[in-house]
Amino acid sequence: MSLFEQQLREETPRSLKALREAENACRRCDLYKHATQAVPGEGPAHAPLMLIGEQPGNDEDLDGHPFVGPAGRMLDKALQEAGIDRKDVFVTNAVKHFKHEMRGKRRLHKRPDPGEIDACRWWQHIERELVKPKLMVALGATAARSAFERVVTINKVRGKIVPVPAGGNALVTIHPSYLLRLQEQRDKQREYVRFVADLEVARDFLRMG
Ligand code: URA
Repeated sequence: MSLFEQQLREETPRSLKALREAENACRRCDLYKHATQAVPGEGPAHAPLMLIGEQPGNDEDLDGHPFVGPAGRMLDKALQEAGIDRKDVFVTNAVKHFKHEMRGKRRLHKRPDPGEIDACRWWQHIERELVKPKLMVALGATAARSAFERVVTINKVRGKIVPVPAGGNALVTIHPSYLLRLQEQRDKQREYVRFVADLEVARDFLRMG
């Protein structure tokens, strides 16, 4: 069945609860086959700010909630520093199932490919339709591709409020796991400060904090 045919058959979920169930039944790409569960977005039903990550990691796949692992702790710290309360934010991912490869007994994160990101955008559009955020923050290249519907060079648009094709505005910044990968403490600190500054742009746009 083509994506278009599946779309015609599906009923568009009209609540976040229905959306969660539909995402868990999703067969739009093959990622569901090796994941424990879909990890739906979560947060206030009409949050002004929607944060979009890449995809659930190992911890999120097991837990069923977005950004609960090491990248989530980094994100929470930066949000707090930027004066944004995570409780006021709808936190989601561009891709709802964990993509990974086995290395021995370990499940190693694998970046979703363009087809998987594009297939999952269907859910992203419904989330936006239901939550109607005033601003989206795309964390990293996968989230930016999902929001802008094309490849985005992060450094070209980073930290600016930019309109997205489906309507509304987004700000692109790095993914918090980038900070975890940096080896040098000096680089980590510099990039962390830039990340917080990007989140502050979002805060000021929404007059949060
Ligand atoms: N990284 C993401 O992009 N999303 C999560 O939920 C966790 C880690």
